[in-house]
Amino acid sequence: MKKKVGFLGWRGMVGSVLLKRMKKKKDFKKIKSFFFTTSQVGQKSPNIKNVGNIFLYDAYDISILKELDIIVTCQGSAYTNTIFFKLRKICWKGYWIDASSTLRMNSDSIIVLDPINYNNILSGLNFGIKTFVGGNCTVSLMLLALGGLFQKKLIDWVSVSTYQAISGGGAKHLQELLLQIKYISKIIQKNEKYLEFSILELEHKILKSLFHNNFPKEYLKVPLVNSLIPWIDTLMKNGQSKEEWKGMAETNKILSSKKKIYIDGNCVRISSLRCHSQSFTIKLLKNVSISDIYTLIQEHNKWVKIIPNVPEETMQYLTPTFVSGTLKIPIGRIRKLNFGELYLSAFSVGDQLLWGAAEPLRRILKILIS
Ligand code: HSE
Repeated sequence: MKKKVGFLGWRGMVGSVLLKRMKKKKDFKKIKSFFFTTSQVGQKSPNIKNVGNIFLYDAYDISILKELDIIVTCQGSAYTNTIFFKLRKICWKGYWIDASSTLRMNSDSIIVLDPINYNNILSGLNFGIKTFVGGNCTVSLMLLALGGLFQKKLIDWVSVSTYQAISGGGAKHLQELLLQIKYISKIIQKNEKYLEFSILELEHKILKSLFHNNFPKEYLKVPLVNSLIPWIDTLMKNGQSKEEWKGMAETNKILSSKKKIYIDGNCVRISSLRCHSQSFTIKLLKNVSISDIYTLIQEHNKWVKIIPNVPEETMQYLTPTFVSGTLKIPIGRIRKLNFGELYLSAFSVGDQLLWGAAEPLRRILKILIS
């Protein structure tokens, strides 16, 4: 019998990337799928193989949800907070797969990233774990890039600076960044004559436009185009942003590390659309040669790819432009730092919506239905 799988939040960015991947990989053939909505009950379900409901069900209808074997939600934390506990309270025994962070750190949930923690997932399943949550995007992307070093327990600590895409902030933020780009494009068009003979005059006009009252910044609060925002998420008591806090907390949970691995640094929003980049300073536990580091990283998984530390290939392949919309995890700028042989530099890029969000969910669903 095919498992009955319910999908929530499938129209959002992560949800639609998930559906697209599932269609491509023909995953819908293996399940009976049901589609839910928080606002458009009765409208048509997407045109998908083995769909169980022609018209969308109400996302808050517990009587329908409780009949499902698996629920996959990309609906967000508020939905999880309302529905998950209600379902568990009435002893719903199904599997809950979640893109939001609400349940990530609970002791009865597993953060899923199977190329890294497949064994933990399997032992969790044998142990009766029913809640599987996608990790924070920078954490998942870092673990895939540095998987070989983490697996061999070579890492003492990591200092990281992130360059995070606006997609991580959600669709409204992405839309607003595009409006900001449009806004300054108009200024450039209007003042095209300065392009040739007074570029600084044009630069000044663009800068001034960012302070106009009607410059779009309802969601972002500040200009991101032509700028960056060195803060993501809320302030923690210790001065970290919550995004920065997640780095160490989630990594250690995913790896089930006995010896804590220290991870910290600044998380920065940039105007890339859907690819996160990260610059790492890594303190190794022992001196490993660069060629061994290359081998360990490259052999860990099939998505990571070493980019030689030379300008041409770095500029070509170690960029959001090259990676967007793919599962590639390029890692480059690998070299020993001036601080000593134990100190390693690396830089990596990954698609925030694929490996950073949707793909680990698709893969845990696949594990659950097989
Ligand atoms: N919190 C991340 C970001 C995305 O803001 O980029 C979700 O993992």
